[in-house]
Amino acid sequence: MEDFEFVSPTHFVFGKDAEEKVGEKIRAAGAQRVLIHFGGKSALASGLISRVRASLSQVGIACIELGGVRPNPEIGLVREGVRLCKQEQIDWIVAVGGGSVIDSAKAIALGALSDIDSWEFYETKQAPSEVLPLAVVLTIPAAGSEASSNTVISNDELGRKTGYGHISLRPRFSFMNPELTFTLPPYQTAAGITDMYSHLLERFFDDMGSVPVTDNLSLSLMKTIRAEAPRVMADPEDYDARANIMWAGMLCHQGLAGVGRHEDWATHGLEHELSALNPQITHGAGLAVLFPSWMEYVFEENPARFIQYGREIFGLVSTGDDWSDAYNAIDATRSFFASLGMPTTLEELDVHEEDIDTMLVTLEKNRGAVFGSFKKLTINDAREIYRLVL
Ligand code: NZQ
Ligand code: ZN
Repeated sequence: MEDFEFVSPTHFVFGKDAEEKVGEKIRAAGAQRVLIHFGGKSALASGLISRVRASLSQVGIACIELGGVRPNPEIGLVREGVRLCKQEQIDWIVAVGGGSVIDSAKAIALGALSDIDSWEFYETKQAPSEVLPLAVVLTIPAAGSEASSNTVISNDELGRKTGYGHISLRPRFSFMNPELTFTLPPYQTAAGITDMYSHLLERFFDDMGSVPVTDNLSLSLMKTIRAEAPRVMADPEDYDARANIMWAGMLCHQGLAGVGRHEDWATHGLEHELSALNPQITHGAGLAVLFPSWMEYVFEENPARFIQYGREIFGLVSTGDDWSDAYNAIDATRSFFASLGMPTTLEELDVHEEDIDTMLVTLEKNRGAVFGSFKKLTINDAREIYRLVL
């Protein structure tokens, strides 16, 4: 097991009506002037924004609002948020939404108390000296940003989508009410499930041997997701299934499932180029296509790891041939994503051979010439992984 440090300071408030406690909790933590940040329309249409606003005003917190965060959030709105925070002397941000809203809020938190443009942090990876504290009301279990120290932002002008991480960006509070996820369209539910499951795959498959305490935690989460996913797809208002998926999504990415390991993250790098190329592409859908492809390309490095995964998660019985067993585990992964309604080819995402070179240029900028851990990948390897699923 590798050495590690792990800090996860987020205070979770989980369950029915969790969002009604936002005001009381953040007031006690010192909030006085809040920016409520949200997405396109779902949180407004459901009345959630009104409820959060009411919870803040009941305890005397002043608030302003900035909506309109799109999926695959863009730096333009972040800059507007930073300007507003400075102008209105905002001291807390409440993000109401999914990964896109939370990541946009984190980007605003980075710039609000600084003279440095938020994008510079993504570009240079420099540490911030001070950030605004953040609370989250989660509406889609997927990205895990409700507890992670990461944020991913697109810059349309530069054709880039890139991540940044710093411990100070872990939300102070996460309010998680599974009922808020009842309204999710099936495609978003499925993409979220694919994303959280992928966060475990990125950690489980690296160049380390086994780390039993971490690996068994990961495997247990994978099993839970596999069991609960068909239940939420069949009945979007199944509270218990939604609750299990919501809490699993947090656990998949808050960090515990990777401690003591190197972790890989090549597939996330490859996916971010898809959604940089076309912001209409949902992160989880891109992962559903690319993960099985990455697996096929790299499994020879350590077939035993795939055999273990296939046995534990899909109950696969050995055929006596390691390569067949590893392949069966990869096929089972592809079938799991497909069973949720996720795509299996780049064509379904309207990405074609001629797009690959464009993606490789920004991939190299974002990840360097060699990246990944399970197998060290070059830019040419990346080309082959995209090609395998055209
Ligand atoms: O904008 P609205 O109208 O709210 O619609 C959203 C959006 O269209 C909708 N939605 C959310 N909650 C809903 C709802 N619709 C109905 N009912 C609800 N309760 O869902 C759509 C997708 O939302 P989004 O926030 O984009 O989803 P997700 O949480 O999957 O976030 C994706 C972003 O997170 C990044 C991804 O790259 C992508 O940009 N990631 C962030 C990570 C992190 N910060 O740690 C890690 C991840 O690997 C990922 O890269
Ligand atoms: Zn992800």
